Amino acid sequence: MTDRVGPAQEEKGRCRVCGGAVHEFLDLGRNPLSDNFLTAENLGDEFFFRLSVGFCESCTMVQLGEVPPRERMFHDDYPYYSSGSSVMRKHFEQTAREFLETEATGDDPFIVEIGCNDGVLLKTVHDAGVRHLGFEPSGKVAEVARGKGVRVTGDFFEEATAVAVRAADGPADVIFAANTICHIPYMGSILKGVDALLGPGGVFVFEDPYLGEIVSKTSFDQIYDEHCFLFSAHSVAEMARRHGFALVDVRRLEVHGGEIRYTLARAGEREPTADVAALLAEEDERGLTDPATLKGFAAKVVEIKDTLVTLLRRLKDEGRTVVAYGATAKSATVTNFCGIGPDLVSFVCDTTPAKQDRLSPGAHIPVRPASAFSDPYPDYALLFAWNHAEEIMAKEQDFRRSGGRWILYVPKVRVV
Ligand code: SAH
Ligand code: TYD
Ligand code: ZN
Repeated sequence: MTDRVGPAQEEKGRCRVCGGAVHEFLDLGRNPLSDNFLTAENLGDEFFFRLSVGFCESCTMVQLGEVPPRERMFHDDYPYYSSGSSVMRKHFEQTAREFLETEATGDDPFIVEIGCNDGVLLKTVHDAGVRHLGFEPSGKVAEVARGKGVRVTGDFFEEATAVAVRAADGPADVIFAANTICHIPYMGSILKGVDALLGPGGVFVFEDPYLGEIVSKTSFDQIYDEHCFLFSAHSVAEMARRHGFALVDVRRLEVHGGEIRYTLARAGEREPTADVAALLAEEDERGLTDPATLKGFAAKVVEIKDTLVTLLRRLKDEGRTVVAYGATAKSATVTNFCGIGPDLVSFVCDTTPAKQDRLSPGAHIPVRPASAFSDPYPDYALLFAWNHAEEIMAKEQDFRRSGGRWILYVPKVRVV
């Protein structure tokens, strides 16, 4: 089995991790790049692809059928800034502190992050005076990280770039990635890179949306161009094994609608915790990677689409005002799969300057600054950033006081 190092070398219908046959269970149709917010100039020049998801019959990895080329997704204008949520800022600060206390304990420790974005995690490492390097190919977000004193390379992490860092900086104690490993289709190259860069006894730790939560919440909007893999303990353990690593710890995280933090070490170096066996057993018990479970999930997705569109059409017919809250990448799947455009949702408000005064990908819903939300409050707000519901509802209490109602669609369509 040869490793696939880039999307161009993918073989249709074959697993990106093990080469086994992939069976599609959900077709979400023609979709745009989820973070491609449009200006008047590039409106006519959108990239579309067929968004579908399947499972590998041999290693169980759940994955997209097609993935757009990486340079189209991650470039100078990539508009996702990790520090936009106070909950996420706190989450990553705590994560950094934990690494500093538990792993970076030797003489001159070295922490590497893949996809460090605006430096939300590495800033704490920098402030502690610990040697570090972030890989971040998206130019403007990387520049923000550098402004915080974080050391960043603009390279994509892959085998060759990891080998170069090992030669220049020596071995890493921790290689960390949040919401990034599931974005990378060329997994063979990633794990070879980790093997080249990680020192003896080191750990590769990554956290990503958990298939178990996506299925139990029917959060189909976690499926979009950048989310090439939907990991489970089963698929990650098998992926690790194939590359000389072992899954030695798992931890459930509340962030982003439910994630797992996976810890990999070289095979034989660390004893797996009881949590690993427990999660594997739980996945077996609920039949998480059974084709029937995944087909059941697909059926529920279609139900949500129908219920949501019916609700929005009814509100429109009744003359209610409806806007959306949070121009998330996830919402590209909701709007494009469900056919929700500016006729049903007048605009979406978002705190990110790089998204404002643009049009949402594919659906072309105008994006406005957060201040537009209360000017005046709409009757209904469709919460696209449902994963930040607590944070958003806490700061937008006046909306409900004004008589406004939130529309949620995860885990099912409801008005609150
Ligand atoms: N870790 C942050 C950012 C997640 S967004 C957080 O959890 O909030 C994913 C980031 O990964 C983007 O900033 C993107 O530019 C970066 N990325 C994508 N492919 C990469 C690769 N091969 N190597 C390093 N970074 C990559
Ligand atoms: P997020 O759900 O973190 O990720 P993704 O784009 O991968 O789906 O995106 C949250 C978006 O919502 C981001 O554009 C910032 C915006 N946002 C607000 O506008 N207000 C807020 O209070 C918060 C927390 C986020
Ligand atoms: Zn496979």
